[in-house]
Amino acid sequence: MSIQTSDLLEKLRQQFDNTPYPRIPLESFPTDPNRLYIHSLVTAYYHRNRKVISTKDRMILDAGCGTGYKSLELAVANPGARIVGIDLSEESVKLARQRLEFHNVENVEFHAMPLEELPSLGMEFDYINNDEVLYLLPDSVVGLRAMQSVLKPDGILRTNFHSSLQRDVYLRSQKFFKLVGLMEGASCESDVELVRQTMRNLKNDVFIKTTAWRPIFETDDERLLVNHLLQGDKGWTLPQFFQALDAAELEFINMSDWRTWDLLSLFQDVDELPITIIMGLADKSYEEQLHLFELLHPVHRLLDIWCGHPRAAHTYTPVSEWTEQHWENSIVHLHPQLITAAFKEDLITCITQLKTFEISQHLNITDSPITIDSLMAACLLPLLDAPQGMSDLVQRWQKLRPLNPVTLEAADEKDSFEMAKQLLLQLENLGYILLECTV
Ligand SMILES: C[S@@+](CC[C@H](N)C(=O)[O-])C[C@H]1O[C@@H](n2cnc3c(N)ncnc32)[C@H](O)[C@@H]1O
Repeated sequence: MSIQTSDLLEKLRQQFDNTPYPRIPLESFPTDPNRLYIHSLVTAYYHRNRKVISTKDRMILDAGCGTGYKSLELAVANPGARIVGIDLSEESVKLARQRLEFHNVENVEFHAMPLEELPSLGMEFDYINNDEVLYLLPDSVVGLRAMQSVLKPDGILRTNFHSSLQRDVYLRSQKFFKLVGLMEGASCESDVELVRQTMRNLKNDVFIKTTAWRPIFETDDERLLVNHLLQGDKGWTLPQFFQALDAAELEFINMSDWRTWDLLSLFQDVDELPITIIMGLADKSYEEQLHLFELLHPVHRLLDIWCGHPRAAHTYTPVSEWTEQHWENSIVHLHPQLITAAFKEDLITCITQLKTFEISQHLNITDSPITIDSLMAACLLPLLDAPQGMSDLVQRWQKLRPLNPVTLEAADEKDSFEMAKQLLLQLENLGYILLECTV
């Protein structure tokens, strides 16, 4: 290890020993379904393989776990899994241990160690969560390689970099404060106050103040630290990220928030674009389209991705291309994050009171509300107890709507099948329903 690298690691250790992250109170228990959804191995594994995996006995690593709030989220989101957390900072690891003990989570262990030394643990993982860490490492490729080496053959790594385009103003602020003598040791309370005094003193129209100074920084030390005084912080573009993945022999799967990366959705009317631009867009790979998106609309602070070993994905026919035979041999699952008492209660109320069921209240996958007609929603009820065959759901739908409401003749079996299929296609596309084909 070079002197520069060990010096940076030491500064990081000091920073996070002094101010362990995040400062979420020990007693807080994660209940936000959106966060649990993203921390569920089921979500990532289904996205890659179109298979529903059981989380029981899976090995999950929280690489750079900090004070363990996300380790706790991983434990809640992945019942029965073993959670291993590691972090450079001994103080953070102590707090993480306390946190999981406080919530009586048993199947966990924590180690104070740099993630670059992960192979020395002698373990392999089905899922690695590496959240808000990679951009701090002295050499990200070394970190990615270390994680790749402990990932099981069909394991999935979730990791993220800071976007250099979105994050530019904070990176410049950090550089300014470094050049004037701050961030030498562990950033402490006095450095935080010096930043505040400097920012207050700047004229109001100075660019850094208009773009990088927010009222929250006046009161929240942690937010100020991780934005204006973060040791080792770096920004990347997506092509740089893809290069780092290649260098670490990892295959990009997708952005974990891929629904918010649709290039064409940025335009009011794609058909009205100049033909040269349409042609220029047409031959772009998915990765290139993501980069074009970030150039036009760098709103994502984190470039948050899933990746895995190259060529390890299962082959499957996309649901949109399924034939009748695929559908007839399919098993329908509700995403495990939706199998809650609150979901069941709300669903039953909507069914019995003939009210529209707003499924997005239980998992907010897009920004707009997603609703289901109460009769159709009644089809989902058995999924709360167990996955169902498509034919069972179609039969249920026929019982719910035995007559054609226009002609009052017996509902046609084909029409019933088609209606159930359209509902499932929509919910699968949104990530609420998971469909497995058994042929
Ligand atoms: C911003 S915090 C994120 C903590 C946690 N992942 C979260 O998102 O809540 C970054 C963490 O990475 C840890 N870290 C930094 N470099 C590391 C390294 N080389 N090996 C292991 N942990 C490291 C720090 O000690 C710190 O706890």
